[in-house]
Amino acid sequence: MIALRLFNLFFITSTLEDECEEDRGMKTYDISLYKRGDLLVVSRTLFKHFGIYLGKGRVAHFIPDILPVFTKEKSIVEQMVTNKRLIFGVLAKAASVRVDPLADFAYGAQIQVNSTDSMVSVQPLNGEEVAQRAEKLIGSFSYSLLWHNCEHYVMHCRYGVACSFQTFQFCKTVRTTLLSRKMAFLSAIIWVFVILYIGAMTPLITLPIVIIPFTIWMAS
Ligand SMILES: *[C@@H]1O[C@H](CO)[C@@H](O)[C@H](O)[C@H]1NC(C)=O
Repeated sequence: MIALRLFNLFFITSTLEDECEEDRGMKTYDISLYKRGDLLVVSRTLFKHFGIYLGKGRVAHFIPDILPVFTKEKSIVEQMVTNKRLIFGVLAKAASVRVDPLADFAYGAQIQVNSTDSMVSVQPLNGEEVAQRAEKLIGSFSYSLLWHNCEHYVMHCRYGVACSFQTFQFCKTVRTTLLSRKMAFLSAIIWVFVILYIGAMTPLITLPIVIIPFTIWMAS
């Protein structure tokens, strides 16, 4: 499922967003609305993206990015992380905690503040401590869509726990899907045996050989 989503994501973003990618950082944001240590949330492609406001219009966030894999050139890497860089970063599992101007972080989207507070049962740490925790982690990390992502980073900073609501939701969905499809799975096996028996090597058989290892790679 993730694999399919990612492929969709790539094709949609590479065709549709080429023209407007330049405008993304142009939108202006009123920085007086945010306080040091606030947790900021924006919608980015299919994901929610999270960051910690550090003050003076700067946001620390953990974001996948392919560019540092290819170049150490600071002036290039420091530019806004476009969706294409982000998606290839997810695929290659390359990501880092970096500090960006608010506009680059928000990427044209509306910003929500502290919206995770109502989802967790623990109190947030005070703003200054949150910001300091965020600053401490600036640098490179590996990235796993499920187990180590931008949400874990901000949860760690703001509440002292690393958990991801999106991952939780995802696991729940996968579990329900698997359970409800048990019978479908059985019939699929029978179907494969039928095809093997007939001797036709169709894409129906070869596709899972590609998709399954890819999904495991992304989920790990
Ligand atoms: C977000 O939370 C911080 C405390 O961590 C608080 O000082 C701030 O006012 C909150 N911002 C909003 C908009 O609720």
